[in-house]
Amino acid sequence: MPLSPSDTAPRIALVGATGAVGTTLIQLIEERGFRYREIHLVASSRSAGRELTVEGRTCRVEALDTFDFSAVDLAFFSAGSSVSRKWVPSAVAQGALVIDNTNAFRMDPATPLVVPQVNADELDRRPSSGIIANPNCSTIPLVRLLRPVEDRWGIRQVVVSTYQAASGRGHSGITELHEASRSALEDPSAQGPAVEFTPTLAFNVVPFIDELLDTGFTLEEQKMLQESRKILGLPHLDVTTTCVRVPVVNGHSEAAWIECDDVVARDELVRLLAAQPEVTVHDKDTIGAFPTPRTAGAPDHVHVGRIRVAPHNPRGFWVWVVADNLRIGAALNALQIAEALTERGTL
Ligand SMILES: NC(=O)c1ccc[n+]([C@@H]2O[C@H](COP(=O)([O-])OP(=O)(O)OC[C@H]3O[C@@H](n4cnc5c(N)ncnc54)[C@H](OP(=O)(O)O)[C@@H]3O)[C@@H](O)[C@H]2O)c1
Repeated sequence: MPLSPSDTAPRIALVGATGAVGTTLIQLIEERGFRYREIHLVASSRSAGRELTVEGRTCRVEALDTFDFSAVDLAFFSAGSSVSRKWVPSAVAQGALVIDNTNAFRMDPATPLVVPQVNADELDRRPSSGIIANPNCSTIPLVRLLRPVEDRWGIRQVVVSTYQAASGRGHSGITELHEASRSALEDPSAQGPAVEFTPTLAFNVVPFIDELLDTGFTLEEQKMLQESRKILGLPHLDVTTTCVRVPVVNGHSEAAWIECDDVVARDELVRLLAAQPEVTVHDKDTIGAFPTPRTAGAPDHVHVGRIRVAPHNPRGFWVWVVADNLRIGAALNALQIAEALTERGTL
């Protein structure tokens, strides 16, 4: 029973509780039995007063602009970067430790960027900023595979193409994909809604996510480079990415070419990846097997398949990776940070 009368369990707030990440976080708190003393569900004034159920109890959504963060020990922010930029500093000033799911503070030197399976030691002490940042949804599964490869063979270069689902744009992204798909089936010449995704995502593939930078890369692509370097503590790591939106409801995929300093043996690579926590390797016994967003199973695992060492260059190999962006890429990673903080007594 997560609700704990113990004085040591934290009082928590979920900002963005009505969103795709926020509702996933509520589910995970229930599923994993995360202990808390009080829970506050917070969203915009549009949702204030709405009722959500947590563990069979009805909770009323509170409005962010009047919420008192001195009443909580830990606040999860999943309401967009601009909301975090505006409200996280006051939450910290009122004494809350913040786990932020947005891009707002990820590259701030005083804010650790944490994937617990990779750099949980960052959670041994309370950060000076009062914020722990949750990385980008495509970066999290990638670094969980890069860490053991770097330790074993050294990494020379990583080339990644992502295949990112509509749920990466939250509830409205999912709704728009459904509506645009229905409309395209009825009338293939109709454009359908294209607000979250331009051009339309229905029956389409869009190689553009987030804003365009002067380099010609997108911000999403830059995040994967900068965040991987920060999490792995490898400031010169060479990661280059093309981020693509695909008409999948939920579950991001990635095709990654990883070139190492030394020759890689496929058998050893498969054993190494399969030994990582919460990683499922699909072609362990059947070469060529692969996960897909709809068939991968175990939503709290990173799924890997199509592991291919290149015959002409055995220092390099390809992997196909699938991970639930709302869980692994956002809410689960955030909750695992909170679990690690609780275990360490850092809260
Ligand atoms: N979706 C993913 O896969 C994913 C992965 C990693 C990180 N993230 C990040 O997580 C954040 C939330 O994403 P999402 O997918 O959950 O989006 P979403 O489904 O659109 O939900 C947005 C949430 O933020 C709240 N919100 C919006 N404006 C607000 C304001 N001015 N004040 C207070 N609350 C406000 C919304 O409340 P109302 O219901 O009241 O509007 C809702 O609860 C984003 O920053 C996103 O980049 C998402």
